[in-house]
Amino acid sequence: MPDSKFTVPEQELLKQKEYNELVKTVLSSRFSPEKPKAFVHTYGCQGNVADGEKLKGMLWEMGFDFCQSPENADLVLYNTCAIREHAEDRVFGNVGALKPFKKKNPDMLIVLCGCMTQQQCVADKFKSSYPFVDIVFGTHVAHRLPEFIYRRLCLGKRVYETADSDGNIVEGLPVKRDGAFRAWVPVMYGCNNFCSYCIVPYVRGRERSRDFDTVVNEVRDLVAAGYKEINLLGQNVNSYNKDLTGDKQFPALLRAINSLEGEFIIRFMTSHPRDCTRELIEAMADCKKVAKHLHLPVQSGNNRVLKEMNRHYDREKYLSLIDYAYELMPELSITSDIIVGFPGETYEEFCDTLSLIEKVKYTSLFTFIFSPRKGTRAYDMPDPVSRQEKGVWFKQLTDLQEKIAGERTAGMKGRVYRVLVEEKAKPDGFLSGRTQGNVIIEFEGDESLIGGFADVIVTNPKTWVVYGELV
Ligand code: SAH
Ligand code: SF4
Ligand code: F3S
Repeated sequence: MPDSKFTVPEQELLKQKEYNELVKTVLSSRFSPEKPKAFVHTYGCQGNVADGEKLKGMLWEMGFDFCQSPENADLVLYNTCAIREHAEDRVFGNVGALKPFKKKNPDMLIVLCGCMTQQQCVADKFKSSYPFVDIVFGTHVAHRLPEFIYRRLCLGKRVYETADSDGNIVEGLPVKRDGAFRAWVPVMYGCNNFCSYCIVPYVRGRERSRDFDTVVNEVRDLVAAGYKEINLLGQNVNSYNKDLTGDKQFPALLRAINSLEGEFIIRFMTSHPRDCTRELIEAMADCKKVAKHLHLPVQSGNNRVLKEMNRHYDREKYLSLIDYAYELMPELSITSDIIVGFPGETYEEFCDTLSLIEKVKYTSLFTFIFSPRKGTRAYDMPDPVSRQEKGVWFKQLTDLQEKIAGERTAGMKGRVYRVLVEEKAKPDGFLSGRTQGNVIIEFEGDESLIGGFADVIVTNPKTWVVYGELV
């Protein structure tokens, strides 16, 4: 495997294997013939979910099995998110709720990690105010989980590790995937964009890409193991291998994965409009296995606000990308993220976001009210509009999107879509899946279809779910 300055040395991983064995021995003498039970919960984005699957992989190798609630667990691990205040509040609340469980079972290990605990101030808060928490570590040292558990279990010390770092790439960690047919495959980590509102670059380190062939081989193995939907992940997949030549960049990666044998669908997120190129749109259009769905977060439709957000594109560039994408893929489904009430945004500027949404006709939107994040540039910007006022704008935005989404789904009536069948739906006998464009579709069918593809004709489209029948 090619070395980059970010690659964690083999030696470090071997050391963790030794800790793994030590922990395994201790646990098996304490719990045998049972296995200790771990409850793992991940908050936040799919990248964090992918990390969570590696944390579970490591716990599994140490001898843990998994349970569905924290109450009777021997270990509780929360893999946290720091993107908005609300996300952090939920974690503080959920950690607080563990206290009585720990009282009942003082041997319960409580472990916190992820983006929230990468912030020194948060790690310090857990240290001083949550003495029943055993282990706290940040994103850059997650592969050292066996060592941390060893230190707590065998040396009896609480652990705090939030080393500041540019980040790393760790290959070869065990993965315990949550799904049997949908897989998360990070292609890059970190972010260099420093959008003025965003905490991610501070908690995830510098942008770094995984080796091209390593990613392709991983996908090949997943497809051979029966995975039907491959989700390529990165905060900004368009800058994948930005410093290498074009034949190793993201469009080339899509083409290489598309040419692998087997029936499967390729999705990717997130594209940043600054780095989204015509080559990417052309690769999407050419590649049959790539879902015709583009998640292209615009954040705002106003150029002054975009500049203050440090997004490095304007409304015109964004709309020209959208025009080109619709030209090549008239059926394309586009989704986006929007921030309402960025500091200093006026109502008139917000209206530019509304008009952009009318123009693009998104399938769906992720909408957020601005949340100040300590350490980011926007945290200190004057923010005169009240939360209540922002709430009114927010409602205007979601009402408009509801109307657009309803119009879009109404146009699906009578058409046949190939969907990956994902799970049972209500009422009994119904199944649920998603179209390539990421619209939820429900229909009557036998459970045995779950995990495979089916052709479904839309008979009764509603705004957020369309109903149909198997063809
Ligand atoms: N890398 C992706 C976004 C990842 S974060 C991109 O650049 O598009 C997901 C979304 O959370 C962002 O697109 C943004 O809309 C929202 N977000 C990030 N920080 C936020 C903040 N401080 N307040 C409100 N929303 C925020
Ligand atoms: Fe955050 Fe911007 Fe990076 Fe996305 S591109 S993760 S919004 S800094
Ligand atoms: Fe949250 Fe970290 Fe993802 S802050 S959105 S879990 S990168």
